[in-house]
Amino acid sequence: MCGIVGYIGQEQAAPILLEGLSRLEYRGYDSAGVAVLDGQTGRLSVRKASGRLAVLAGQLHGGADLPGSAGVGHTRWATHGAPSDENSHPQVSRSGRIAVVHNGIIENYAGLKAFLEDKGVPFTSETDTEVVAQLIEYFYDGDLLAAVGRVLRRIQGAYALGIVCADCPGQIVAVRKDSPLILGYGEGCAFLASDVTAILRHTRQVSYLEDGEVAVLTRQGIRCYDRLMQPVEKPVVQVDWDVDAAEKGGYEHFMFKEIMEQPQALRRCLSPRLQGGEITLENFALSGQYIREMEKIYIVACGSSYHVGMVGKYQLERLTRRPVEVALASEFRYMQPIVDRRTLVIVISQSGETLDTLAALREARRLGAFVLSIVNVVGSSIARESDQVLYTWAGPEIAVATTKAYSTQLALLSLLAVYFAGELGTVPQAEYRAALDAFAQLPDEMEKVLERKDGIQYFASRCFNHSSVFFMGRNVDYALGLEGSLKLKEISYIHSEAYAAGELKHGTISLIEDGTLVVALATYDRLFPKVMSNVVEVKSRGAGVLALTTERRREEMARTADAVMTIPDVHDLLLPCLGVVPLQLFAYYVALQRGCDIDKPRNLAKSVTVE
Ligand code: F6R
Repeated sequence: MCGIVGYIGQEQAAPILLEGLSRLEYRGYDSAGVAVLDGQTGRLSVRKASGRLAVLAGQLHGGADLPGSAGVGHTRWATHGAPSDENSHPQVSRSGRIAVVHNGIIENYAGLKAFLEDKGVPFTSETDTEVVAQLIEYFYDGDLLAAVGRVLRRIQGAYALGIVCADCPGQIVAVRKDSPLILGYGEGCAFLASDVTAILRHTRQVSYLEDGEVAVLTRQGIRCYDRLMQPVEKPVVQVDWDVDAAEKGGYEHFMFKEIMEQPQALRRCLSPRLQGGEITLENFALSGQYIREMEKIYIVACGSSYHVGMVGKYQLERLTRRPVEVALASEFRYMQPIVDRRTLVIVISQSGETLDTLAALREARRLGAFVLSIVNVVGSSIARESDQVLYTWAGPEIAVATTKAYSTQLALLSLLAVYFAGELGTVPQAEYRAALDAFAQLPDEMEKVLERKDGIQYFASRCFNHSSVFFMGRNVDYALGLEGSLKLKEISYIHSEAYAAGELKHGTISLIEDGTLVVALATYDRLFPKVMSNVVEVKSRGAGVLALTTERRREEMARTADAVMTIPDVHDLLLPCLGVVPLQLFAYYVALQRGCDIDKPRNLAKSVTVE
């Protein structure tokens, strides 16, 4: 949510900033801006424009128009103040000599603004960020770092800040609290970014700023300080993500590319963990004794990651016979959850930066739970603050709508369920072995599903005009429906809801009329007959039914449903992981037909770093 990039070096900064921003645009795309320091003239130039980054890049002729070799850039997801030129970042101080880019929310901005207005400071935007720029100037007496330090003692909330000052053309100051910020190291240059993809073209040597830390970037290197302004040494790590993985590589959309990459992502996620006929979890700190004494599992996440948790609940309870609760991270932190040291809390997050999930993690740890996280972005806050992290290794996911992160999270959680069952002895050996064999086949089976994409495109071409769609299923198919419905609504803007199929007749069935589209999910064989009855019920009220089932049930389903999509007959633990693929493709093709901006759906951002 909001992307920040910063560069200081020998080259012209603006083109580097714009290029970096183009890789962060998935974090927010309401407006963009840059502030560039020209050491020769001592001028600080700020350019910003509402709308997509292309608008600003066009105005600046790709950055060529802005001289200067240091600066910060921003792509915005509006919180305080509508998307407009005035509310875009960088926000500047009254004199125009200090510019600030910000990701997060300054919660006490109203009080600080009133204080400054009392002192006669005029404001030109509705943003909370302008307060930071004005406050720095208010305290500034020639020492930028000292002024920033005084501001940090006064602001509350979540923030990552990039700060430049016309008086200090040889430095950029960066600050972080609860919003991600990464430092990048180059030869005679230094970088700042919300996400490593923004600077991957220039450097792979990075370090992660911790909460409360401040960094000063210069051409000679980066100095870091803790919250008491004492110098700290930051470990530098090498990022091994492939630059090409963050490019479209000939595909029209990142989402489609990432759907197609799923077999590869699953191989990376599963193969190292399935060695020698056993499940090997890297540096796994949970002892057999802890697992045996564990009384409850809580799964905490947001959005699609929460839907992974919903599938996980069914699978973990069935395999381990331990109670599993699934909570939305935004609810968990305020619901006084019953959690103690015998509770395993599994936190799921692609970005590893979702603020609600991070806060839930902290709450769980405070209550004494062991926190195991399933995360995609290496070195992210959630990964670093967990007692144990399992990475999904899906590679960079750029499209706002998650696909390959979802399927790898799901595969990993299902594998964890089998691992726990093995430790607890709650499944017979033969069943345990059969599950492991099935996991090893999963990437190949997914390739078969992807080969059927043209059929799904055809169904999408017949359905794209619907104004409302219902998904229904039972057990893991219900959880799968939640994800299918979210995928469809977020990128195609068609209203959609998902229901446990048995629940429909307790109210929602009144919405079914002639021509309503119902997507019926019936991959879980044990409940196939039950879902069939629900299909008949909605058909008799006029619904058109698009069904998803396994190959062995195709014919039977085709006798009632209007159209049938299938997945291979695989081990039931893997059904949701395969079943999601036709739903992702369906949503993608529907959105394509409707001419939607698939990779950047309206009002959404990839990394949700505000509450
Ligand atoms: C939907 C989607 C979101 C995320 C949610 C959590 O396609 O991507 O619902 O799943 O914002 O994000 P992470 O997993 O990064 O914590």
